[in-house]
Amino acid sequence: MSQALALQGRHLVLGLSGGVACYKAAELVRELGRAGATVQVVMTEAAQQFITPVTMQALSGRRVVTDQWDAGVANNMAHIELSREADAIVVAPASADFIAQLAQGRAGELLPLLCLARPLERCPLLLAPAMNREMWAHPATQRNVAQAVADGAVLLGPGSGDQACGEVGDGRMLEPADLCEDIVAFFQPKRLAGRSVLVTAGPTFEAMDPVRGITNHSSGKMGFAIARAAAEAGARVTLVAGPVHLPTPRGVARIDVTSARDMLAAVLPQAPRHEVFVATAAVADWRPADVAEHKMKKDGSGRPPRIEFAENPDILATVARLPAGQRPFCVGFAAESRDMVQHAREKLARKGVPMIVANLGPATFGRDDNECVIVESGGDTTLPRADKLTLARALVAHIADRLNAA
Ligand code: C5P
Repeated sequence: MSQALALQGRHLVLGLSGGVACYKAAELVRELGRAGATVQVVMTEAAQQFITPVTMQALSGRRVVTDQWDAGVANNMAHIELSREADAIVVAPASADFIAQLAQGRAGELLPLLCLARPLERCPLLLAPAMNREMWAHPATQRNVAQAVADGAVLLGPGSGDQACGEVGDGRMLEPADLCEDIVAFFQPKRLAGRSVLVTAGPTFEAMDPVRGITNHSSGKMGFAIARAAAEAGARVTLVAGPVHLPTPRGVARIDVTSARDMLAAVLPQAPRHEVFVATAAVADWRPADVAEHKMKKDGSGRPPRIEFAENPDILATVARLPAGQRPFCVGFAAESRDMVQHAREKLARKGVPMIVANLGPATFGRDDNECVIVESGGDTTLPRADKLTLARALVAHIADRLNAA
């Protein structure tokens, strides 16, 4: 999904402390650059045992700073200069020793000094821990991490899985793409902090026999973008997804389903536990009334089989009819091929929901961009053509306004 230039105009200090995960910092600096950030790399002495400043310099396009006595910094105060310009300091990898230094407020070399000297209210510190699982689990590390967080640091990860030492467990650094997604999310306004959002996405697949069935062209991209935007805005998010091949947005709980009836069964127990329900799924209106037990074969007669259809439940309308107290704020989508606002207005009334997002279906299916109109009883709001994540963020902001006004 296009997240072009989500960090445009941001300047980050990327600090590397010592650890095998330094090799991932090389990829991270590229990811951050692709997202539009400028990156000043700072390396500890230990980090330079794992990757050279030459590599990081080539990838960041800036001279790497390693020394607190660096005479190349105008006023000879690298520790002041570097953090004054930065929108955030990201330390990836953050070793156990480095976090211990932070916890104690030590400043024995440039990177911890920089963290200590940063203006707390203006320059956040993000830490991506990377260490062996025993080191991570050690009470001393856990104590230091808790202290660093209490002092204002934000943790990114750590992840879990294979470690360089051959062991498996918690403590490995998040992958560069995940770190970049978390950093992008960090900078988004937390409009839905403390709220919860349930999203349906993708097509449904209605089987006619064990091999074949009926589905549609929905890619799920818009629904996944909304789930991501809501999570970035601080909400707890559950995503009920039809059959699509999209990665789950970071921090989102995902439930995979196949048919419309599966989707309803997944949504119904969740709906009362969420404050907002966004139905982006392109749910099949009909399903084959009977599912053949075995694959339907040609019988040589030249006559194709007759398939009877049954109507699927309307998931959005069902949720919108839940009693007050169990009913989330419902947002529907309308993919039309013409007269989209008029159809959306009818749908608003028919489904009994306060908000319908109208778009031209054939012009958006499978694409990375879209254009929509938010239709409400009080009027229409046009969201001009943009990538789906940008639109999703605008829609989330709009929904947050409605919740806060209520
Ligand atoms: O009626 P129509 O399919 O045009 O309405 C589209 C909206 O209703 C979308 O928000 C879609 O997710 C939702 N919907 C649903 N269950 C259905 C059909 C549509 O939740 N069976």
